[in-house]
Amino acid sequence: MFAITQSTFATVVVVILFALFVGLLGGSFVRARRSATARAEPERATAPTKPISRRDFFRGGLLGGLGVFLVQFGGATFAFLYPNIKGGFGATIDAGNLTEIKNAIQSTRQPFYLGSGRFYIVPYDVDPVPEEYQGIAAGGLMALYQRCVHLGCRVPFCEQSQWFECPCHGSKYNRAGEYRSGPAPRGLDRFPIELQGEEVRVVTGDLTAGPARGTDSTGQNAEGPFCVGAA
Ligand code: FES
Repeated sequence: MFAITQSTFATVVVVILFALFVGLLGGSFVRARRSATARAEPERATAPTKPISRRDFFRGGLLGGLGVFLVQFGGATFAFLYPNIKGGFGATIDAGNLTEIKNAIQSTRQPFYLGSGRFYIVPYDVDPVPEEYQGIAAGGLMALYQRCVHLGCRVPFCEQSQWFECPCHGSKYNRAGEYRSGPAPRGLDRFPIELQGEEVRVVTGDLTAGPARGTDSTGQNAEGPFCVGAA
């Protein structure tokens, strides 16, 4: 029936071999591609990061600056509010019991000093209370800011003279913090005292300028030698 010639058989064999060759070649090519892809993956993973662009740099700088600003702003806000939160200088401070404070002043012959509030509490028995001390003195007491009104040094109390004497330039104030001598332009500044029953509260957030030079509501002269030389 069928007669396969030698030339037909040879052609079929060549076609099969060619197809086999193409198949093997194609398979090899595909494997090579897969292998190259597999090798490229880890290289990509460890490849150095792209250098940062100028836009990213400025954006990072802007965000960093904003962060610093927010931290500083938050810190400043906290510092401003902290006295009121904690009850330190700038807040209304509970200084203690009225009778105990008066007894301490009398027994020590010194003003009652509260460092955390930066004030002295001094006796003030002038009756009636002069107009300039209305709303400031209460319960026979007055609260003086420790800061010299000349250039800001802390003014200690001199037990010998019973006056406040500034060690920086020699300004002197009587026991009520009224100006007596030296370069200070007025008496010591002061804070209002509030009484809640027997509790003495000093409003350090409400600083009142000291009385003008020439004010002498107590007539108290120096009671001994000065601690600081004359100005
Ligand atoms: Fe007190 Fe100058 S700072 S006299």
